[in-house]
Amino acid sequence: MNKVFSVRDLRFTYPKSEIEAVQGISFDVHEGEVFGLLGPSGAGKSTTQKILTKLFRSYQGTILYNGKDLSDYRNDYYEDIGVGFELPVHFSKLTGLENMQFFAQLYKQRTAIEPLLEQVGLLEDKDRLVATYSKGMKMRLNFVRAMLNKPKVLFLDEVTNGLDPKNARILKDQIRTFKEAGGTVFLSTHLMNDVEELCDRVAFIRGGKIVETSTPRALKIKHGQRSVTVEYYENNHTQAETFDLDGLADNAAFLRLLKEKKIETMHSGETSLDEIFIKVTGVSAHEDA
Ligand SMILES: Nc1ncnc2c1ncn2[C@@H]1O[C@H](COP(=O)(O)OP(=O)(O)OP(=O)(O)O)[C@@H](O)[C@H]1O
Ligand SMILES: [Mg+2]
Repeated sequence: MNKVFSVRDLRFTYPKSEIEAVQGISFDVHEGEVFGLLGPSGAGKSTTQKILTKLFRSYQGTILYNGKDLSDYRNDYYEDIGVGFELPVHFSKLTGLENMQFFAQLYKQRTAIEPLLEQVGLLEDKDRLVATYSKGMKMRLNFVRAMLNKPKVLFLDEVTNGLDPKNARILKDQIRTFKEAGGTVFLSTHLMNDVEELCDRVAFIRGGKIVETSTPRALKIKHGQRSVTVEYYENNHTQAETFDLDGLADNAAFLRLLKEKKIETMHSGETSLDEIFIKVTGVSAHEDA
């Protein structure tokens, strides 16, 4: 597995601040994966992204990008990466298309703008001033901006935050397509839906420290219970019984239930990522949403 990023003991303190915003984190991002950095508000997600995208240079620790120290890269690094900022930054007095033309000319390598606008459903609105765009439109334009230079690595900071399900779906589909074409994604979020659908691996960050790194599936198994709950309909109402997953095939009570009752639902006891988020970070994923 090729490591696109190898981060070791990364530390960062904002000027005039007394506490480290990032307190010695280590992780790898593999080529072709969607790596999720998850954590509550103030955990250090955006700070980490800003360091990895070379907006902040006064960090401690080591960051290797494709095996070479990040600080040894010059502007060529920006040709490789696409950045979706937490808060979209556009010129409101220019149209959507003019904005993208402006940002595209900053790069040597470019891709056609209109197909990108079309993919996120903005082609019809390309000649409208960004000042008249809705929030969802600005977020989609933000994504297009990140894709202008045909990046190898996409950094996306809370890219679906505040979007309605339809717009969130459009962006998630785009992220998946990017990955399927071989791209690598570094995604910061506190939205567990995004994680469930997109992330291959995740690291939970809390108070500037990584508290757990895993895959969504392994997390669910680790934090879940090995049980299955069967809901069935009897005497005009729904009843439920829970069984141990181990030995289920020989569990007479379970088998009898399957044979004799009208089953409504059957769920194994894996924990939702929302619950894991609370358990691991100590904070609800929705508290700051
Ligand atoms: N410009 C700044 N100056 C000083 N401290 C800052 C600055 N920006 C962020 N911080 C602090 O650094 C810590 C990490 O902030 P960061 O923005 O990285 O969090 P986050 O995980 O992205 O949170 P959110 O989910 O709210 O976006 C917080 O304690 C925050 O108050
Ligand atoms: Mg943030």
